[in-house]
Amino acid sequence: MDIIDQIIRLMVRDAPYTKLCSTKNILTVNGQFPGPTLYVNKGETIIVDVYNRANYNITIHWHGVNQPRYPWSDGPEYITQCPILPGGKFSQKVILSEEEGTLWWHAHSDWSRATVHGAIVVKPKPGTTYPFPRPHKEVPIILGEWWKKDVVEVYNELRRTGGDAAISDAYTINGQPGDRHPCSKNETFKLKVDYGKTYLLRIVNAAVQNVLFFAIAKHKLTVVGTDGSYVKPVTVDYITISPGQTMDVLLEANQALDRYYMAARAYSSAANVSFNENTTTAIVEYKGKHIPSSTTALLPLLPAFNDTNASVNLLSQLRSLADDEHPIDVPLDISTNLFFTTSVNTLPCANGSTCAGPNGNRLSASMNNISFELPSNNNILRAYYNNISGVYGENFPDVPPLLFDFTADNIPSFLNTPSVATEVNVLEYNSTVEIVLQGTNLLAGTEHPIHLHGYSFYVVGWGFGNFDKDKDPLSYNLVDPPYQNTVAIPKNGWTAIRFRAKNPGVWFMHCHLDRHVTWGMAMTFIVKNGNNPQDQMLPPPLDMPKLNTYVDELEKGEVKLP
Ligand code: C2O
Ligand code: CU
Repeated sequence: MDIIDQIIRLMVRDAPYTKLCSTKNILTVNGQFPGPTLYVNKGETIIVDVYNRANYNITIHWHGVNQPRYPWSDGPEYITQCPILPGGKFSQKVILSEEEGTLWWHAHSDWSRATVHGAIVVKPKPGTTYPFPRPHKEVPIILGEWWKKDVVEVYNELRRTGGDAAISDAYTINGQPGDRHPCSKNETFKLKVDYGKTYLLRIVNAAVQNVLFFAIAKHKLTVVGTDGSYVKPVTVDYITISPGQTMDVLLEANQALDRYYMAARAYSSAANVSFNENTTTAIVEYKGKHIPSSTTALLPLLPAFNDTNASVNLLSQLRSLADDEHPIDVPLDISTNLFFTTSVNTLPCANGSTCAGPNGNRLSASMNNISFELPSNNNILRAYYNNISGVYGENFPDVPPLLFDFTADNIPSFLNTPSVATEVNVLEYNSTVEIVLQGTNLLAGTEHPIHLHGYSFYVVGWGFGNFDKDKDPLSYNLVDPPYQNTVAIPKNGWTAIRFRAKNPGVWFMHCHLDRHVTWGMAMTFIVKNGNNPQDQMLPPPLDMPKLNTYVDELEKGEVKLP
């Protein structure tokens, strides 16, 4: 018997949105952008009724919720479900287990997540508490990215031209770019603080295209958690946060009674790639003293856009608590060693035409030289569960098809063309897995925030250059590595992660920069069932969204919604 702790309703709609520069329709959830914060307790199971009242297909993913034995509600379009069609509804069971801290939910279909997202706050179980003094207040801080254009257009143009995506017009903090940007001064997010009190900022990077630096003028930030898992407190001047990642940060209000900016802007390391260079701001204002509205706030110092050392500074300081209340279980004997390259590539433009990518080609991306293609009109989980052939192959390789100097300055251009396929890698139940994620310098070396569905993993090591299998494991942290669901591979570097494959199902892994995943920087794991019934996938719910046979006609205007 299932115990359901809460039932929540999320309604996705197309609605005119006037709070930022342009008036245009965006997808909102329950009328809000960002969408509502979900509050749950550790270990709860909740039902979220997702209604699609928009004109687009939608799916919703609970980013960082591991969904034990239940991939059916995980959400990635064509991986674990077909989309919820306009007018449709899907009751998604969201099963919390070991996660505690901040996670988030977002759309997982095309680029709709640009506006369809919100935080998930996972509180300690009743009767337990935080591993740090109880904060005076908790504040979700959602970092986003905004295009004046309809983001559907931005996505369609990217697909059509084969070139890079139009850069965004603003980054946002809780839906607003801040008062240094020409749009919407009055609505800028303001956090009013009492001197001497401590605030817990639950920061989510929901931006679409960039890793971000974030800081608050004159104030230190103490990181106490990331990705729904606590860490030993680290006090820093700024944080680096990847798209997909969350950070729990304590802010002590210990400065002069004044007004200060919190601010975020991009970290972007690829040469010759343009990106949005705006800074988004919100305000931290002390209570108890009249501060004339003419007083401009002080901006924090943020690292330079291409400061790669600054980008890895925090990662190298993150450590799990690894104490009695927060034990860790880092696999020490590895049964399955995987080595995956991540590359930005090009493919020839379709039928002899010229695309907007380098040399008239179209931009692509890959893992182990396979540019992942989503199935259309079916999904991998359904095909796996029902033994339907022809939807995917099981040949995603454990190692790259060709070894070369991955991070060299000049890589022969014939290495640049990936194959295009829908391949999964099959893992035995309970296998102990290490994946070395290796960035390459093909086309343009850059950082890649990689997210794994269905699992958190220990980040046991990282470095620049090519991974050295004899030397690098000697410096792994196997004692208290951070436990994350998203980790950035540094530019022209590598990251090693470990996990035990104890969650059977179909689980997507991909770069969380949306242009990269759109280009194919993704793969899928199938984790087999164990022998015991309690180590096997649960059966699907009865209301799984149907195959979208009439969506194409709908988009062509050939059929109308009731
Ligand atoms: Cu946050 Cu597959 O995504
Ligand atoms: Cu990437």
